[in-house]
Amino acid sequence: MALPLFVLNGPNLNALGKREPGIYGGQTLADIEVLCKAEGEKLGFAVDFRQSNHEGDLVDWIHEAGDVAAGIAINAGAYTHTSIALHDAIRAIKIPVVELHLSNVHAREEFRHKSMIAPAVKGVICGFGVQSYILALHALSSITT
Ligand code: DQA
Repeated sequence: MALPLFVLNGPNLNALGKREPGIYGGQTLADIEVLCKAEGEKLGFAVDFRQSNHEGDLVDWIHEAGDVAAGIAINAGAYTHTSIALHDAIRAIKIPVVELHLSNVHAREEFRHKSMIAPAVKGVICGFGVQSYILALHALSSITT
């Protein structure tokens, strides 16, 4: 079995399902975890799925993944737009990282157009709702196997 893929989720994503469903859809993070694990299995990867509202947890998990995982799909939530710490953590590891967003951040408020982590990642997927997670897993699978 290949090394696992980490799927990391940042702040407020624990509120999916009840949080602005017109933008983020009606599925909960637990629903998305089930979908990611099933898709990972099809692709031959175990999926380690985590969420935190705390920037430092995400930094720690990126470092951990760098030692034990084949790649990371990350929805960093609002930290996408602010976090030099996440940018630096991604730069500090060698495995591929795919940035993802449920919504099309470029079609929203201007403050969401800038990603601090985009220059450090392999690629970015946004705007496909829950499918963004699935597409990110496929992207990782295609570049790690
Ligand atoms: C998000 C987009 C971010 O701008 C926002 O802060 C989020 C969710 C998305 O998945 O569309 O929390 O990352």
